[in-house]
Amino acid sequence: MENLEKEKLRQVLLDALAFGNVGIDIVGLDHKILYQNQFLQDRYGDLSGKLCYKELRGLEKPCEPCFLAEVIENNHPAMYEGRDSQERTYQVIAFPIPDEKKAIEVLLDTTKQTRMRNCLEIVGQIHRVLTREKNELKVFQSVCDLLLKTGRVELAWIGLVEKEALKISPVARAGPENDYLTFVKSAQIDYASGGPVNNALTKRQPVLIRDIAAQYNGDSGLKNLKNRILDMGYVSLYVLPMYADGEVMGIINLCSKRKDAFSQEEIELLEGITQDISLAVRGLRAERRSIVLIDQAVSAISVMTELRDPYTSGHERRVANICRAIGEKLGFSEDQLEGIRIMGFLHDIGKIAIPSEILNKPGKLSEIEFNLVKNHPEIGYEILKKLDFPWPVAAVARQHHERINGSGYLYGIKGREILLEAKILAVADVIEAICSHRPYRPALGVAKALEEIINNKGILYEPIVVDACVRLFQEEKITNIDYFS
Ligand SMILES: [Fe+2]
Repeated sequence: MENLEKEKLRQVLLDALAFGNVGIDIVGLDHKILYQNQFLQDRYGDLSGKLCYKELRGLEKPCEPCFLAEVIENNHPAMYEGRDSQERTYQVIAFPIPDEKKAIEVLLDTTKQTRMRNCLEIVGQIHRVLTREKNELKVFQSVCDLLLKTGRVELAWIGLVEKEALKISPVARAGPENDYLTFVKSAQIDYASGGPVNNALTKRQPVLIRDIAAQYNGDSGLKNLKNRILDMGYVSLYVLPMYADGEVMGIINLCSKRKDAFSQEEIELLEGITQDISLAVRGLRAERRSIVLIDQAVSAISVMTELRDPYTSGHERRVANICRAIGEKLGFSEDQLEGIRIMGFLHDIGKIAIPSEILNKPGKLSEIEFNLVKNHPEIGYEILKKLDFPWPVAAVARQHHERINGSGYLYGIKGREILLEAKILAVADVIEAICSHRPYRPALGVAKALEEIINNKGILYEPIVVDACVRLFQEEKITNIDYFS
């Protein structure tokens, strides 16, 4: 094809595409823009002769590597993702123009899809936090951190409503520390003021301020808040109330340096996720309440066992605390720690069925007496199996005198047949017993207790539990068992 014909064909094609919904440009190896279609002109103004990296990407230097240069030099088309200085994303397909050291770029605006994909990804991550994290404050902190990652806001904070004090107490924040939150902390909720936070609280609906300066122009009641936010460079706000049990428990606040920061789809996703967060937190609080109740009931039961066996007074509490501390060293979750602590409290509950003369007998026990004592894990199991704990409390009580080489009682099970929690209890129980005074011997001390578990590591006691326990005593510099009282 003659050069002239080629040029004509190119012009016809460019004209045909000039008014489409895609951007088209021609760029030389020197990064100069030689042609732009109407779509790009409408977005960026006249770019003829200007540098592509500067005008389209807002950069001072060409990109590293420069895809366009690669396309021209390799004489081969390529596809890549581009992002402009106004946070728009493009899918770019570049074709080399043979023998001309130029490339023609076709830019498809993918901003909407990219933002949606990003937002959905973050919503997914928030859901993962909600299903795994048991600590309410950690949930709030993760939510703020993730909301910042949407790239739509520069400050995300969560405040809880203190009903009595009529205050909002900020409990988590991602973004810069600022005056605004200090102000929030000190201010009283004023339901009549009509500000965004108060409106969200009273109307129980999200409040979206697309442009603070315009929307609150001349509203003197909001001067304080408005100026504080504007001074920090935020121009739009999104306040989402969190409900629990019919009441607003708090608010999620998103501050952005862009006007109209959220698309309709993002707004819907954020409102949905706020409901999910509220439900999850309500669940956590209910769970917390029931754990507190379990805890109180468990303490009452263990006091009962202790009353029957005054010589080992405080044994349950200390064992419970040692178990929890070993669990911490083993990296247990908060839920597992709560479980192991309760197992520590209840492991000897079966002793309730043993006559107190035997339990408190200072001398050596006869065989019959010892067999009675040996049965306490089974009795404990029978008592505890009727209670619907979220942890294997009954099974662990039954196994707490088993040893990993099968030399323990009641069943002589070994190794993997024994639950990890029972192995922790075995170590905590023996440490506490050696360190405590008994009617027939004085307390032997921490060194002797550690010596026992180290000497029998891998024989009687699970090695990882022994290591965790030794680390616990060394790292916390524990020299007296009263540390766990
Ligand atoms: Fe026991």
